[in-house]
Amino acid sequence: MKAIVCEKYGSPDVLELREVAKPTPKDDEVLVKIHAVSINDWDWGLLQGSTLVDRLLFGFFRPRHAILGSDIAGRIEAVGKNVTQFRTGDDVFGDLSGRWGGFAEYVCAPHTALALKPPSMTFPEAASIPQAAMLAIQGLRDIGGIEQGDKVLINGAGGGVGTFAIQIAKLYGAEVTGVDSSAKLDFMRSLGFDKVIDYTQQDFTRSGTCYDLILDVKTNRSLLDYARALSPAGRYVTVGGSMARLLQILLIGPLIAMTSKKTMRLVVLKPNKDLAYVNELFEAGKVKPVLDKFHALSEVPEAMRYFGTANHKGKLVITLE
Ligand SMILES: NC(=O)c1ccc[n+]([C@@H]2O[C@H](COP(=O)([O-])OP(=O)(O)OC[C@H]3O[C@@H](n4cnc5c(N)ncnc54)[C@H](OP(=O)(O)O)[C@@H]3O)[C@@H](O)[C@H]2O)c1
Repeated sequence: MKAIVCEKYGSPDVLELREVAKPTPKDDEVLVKIHAVSINDWDWGLLQGSTLVDRLLFGFFRPRHAILGSDIAGRIEAVGKNVTQFRTGDDVFGDLSGRWGGFAEYVCAPHTALALKPPSMTFPEAASIPQAAMLAIQGLRDIGGIEQGDKVLINGAGGGVGTFAIQIAKLYGAEVTGVDSSAKLDFMRSLGFDKVIDYTQQDFTRSGTCYDLILDVKTNRSLLDYARALSPAGRYVTVGGSMARLLQILLIGPLIAMTSKKTMRLVVLKPNKDLAYVNELFEAGKVKPVLDKFHALSEVPEAMRYFGTANHKGKLVITLE
């Protein structure tokens, strides 16, 4: 089969399209013919070996997993002997982070990492969902405790997590402000953001407006800045961003909670936990993935380069059909 192979850390130039052995499923795995795969920030970080944590976990000098790509959608072609809930021919999707292998024609996946794809959902739509929608739902609902009518701000609103988060927040009747670069503001208005802020022109933490809930995809400001932008019992939830800032939230955030009613917390992704819930929302017409550029498998390096510019709107998905 064909796959995009990454044998050393670096820029997208190190990625190569190669012929590799087609995998065989173990007893509790299925073999999926991949129809679409999306790019996540984690793929981008792993390509470069940019964090010490990733290098310790996934290969210090070179990537232990030569094929990146975690969020896949495709059709089951073979089933391991212990798998009972899926059959050959089922259309599935899920997040394979930790083992990756999605930038390829086929991948073996544990049955626990997959959900059935609704027939009305396209493969690219399905591939866009796993990490971004889980982070949006778990961030707003489980960690952020979003309530009806909350005043919500999403920082880094025009990318994968933000474009799911606006739709989830609207289900709660929230008034939602989105922060991103000027090129994405019209796009964000079209998704239903009530207010948009260009972060190159305005610092939302210094505008005097306070929010009941902030969902942050970038975490590039100080903890005190975020605390200032929260209403008296406001909740700040970070999904990811600068490691130093994240440590600040983890270590000093609890002090803010002890001295006020404000909370500052980090989302630890529970992969695939809410796929069935997203299926329900999708089928009810309440959530619609927002997709950017489609490419062939051979175009993964170009797609990764594009992801690195952060000019994508919504989720960047590669189709293999
Ligand atoms: N917590 C966990 O367990 C976990 C697991 C997996 C991933 N993650 C995290 O999830 C996040 C993925 O988010 P995503 O898929 O939405 O990323 P994304 O698609 O790259 O979107 C990020 C958006 O932020 C914008 N942005 C850049 N700089 C900004 C700034 N200073 N202020 C406001 N917006 C800014 C970007 O656009 P412009 O550059 O054009 O402004 C882009 O639209 C990452 O932080 C990743 O580390 C967390």
